[in-house]
Amino acid sequence: MRELGRATTPQGEIVLRQRGEIQELIVNGVFAMDSTEVTSELALADAAGTAPGRVLVGGLGLGYTASRLLDNGARHVDVVELAGPLIEWAVQGVTAQLERVAHDPRIQLHHGDIAEWLPRREESYDAILLDVDNGPGFLIHVQNARVYAAEWLRTASERLTPGGVLVIWSEDAAPELARALAGLGVLTETVIEVDREGRRFGYALYQLRRAAS
Ligand SMILES: C[S@@+](CC[C@H](N)C(=O)[O-])C[C@H]1O[C@@H](n2cnc3c(N)ncnc32)[C@H](O)[C@@H]1O
Repeated sequence: MRELGRATTPQGEIVLRQRGEIQELIVNGVFAMDSTEVTSELALADAAGTAPGRVLVGGLGLGYTASRLLDNGARHVDVVELAGPLIEWAVQGVTAQLERVAHDPRIQLHHGDIAEWLPRREESYDAILLDVDNGPGFLIHVQNARVYAAEWLRTASERLTPGGVLVIWSEDAAPELARALAGLGVLTETVIEVDREGRRFGYALYQLRRAAS
């Protein structure tokens, strides 16, 4: 095990480490993600469609979603990340993928809390992709409850271009999230079954599409 970075932020401790070929992100002592199985992180990016124009991503993590958006031909991607040190490590290039994301001119990394960042912005996005926590039922940061609440989700939906999508990753089915999104547009729930170390998980993507006009 090799530590690629460890830092304490106002929100807690963040650790990026390498175990063999695998990279792991630990936030506040809680496993946030690793690089062994990233189907759902890639599916989150794919939900923005092919060649999406402007995309907003909440949560940099290991950069899988952002990197896939580049592969898919996104024109511009704003990535908002709560942990400042993670952005610094990306700029330093501690992993090849974070380095790619930090240095591609189509991506702009912003240090901030998406819960506060998005309502302050005026511009519209073709896709807003949210993967900042485990989902409303099991939060790493309790303050993240704000982004799963109806008021914030309404604001996010208002920042979509006509026909645009808001997609939210959740580690599990989250009926309360579906309820909060109801009425804001056309809602689709996709379950992505993955095997991790012999266990089966059903990650969920909640996709809200704004009416085309
Ligand atoms: C599971 S990871 C994201 C994984 C990412 N989709 C990928 O492909 O690697 C969650 C990230 O969201 C960040 N985060 C947590 N709360 C946040 C917030 N309120 N605003 C912005 N970023 C946040 C965490 O620091 C972490 O980097």
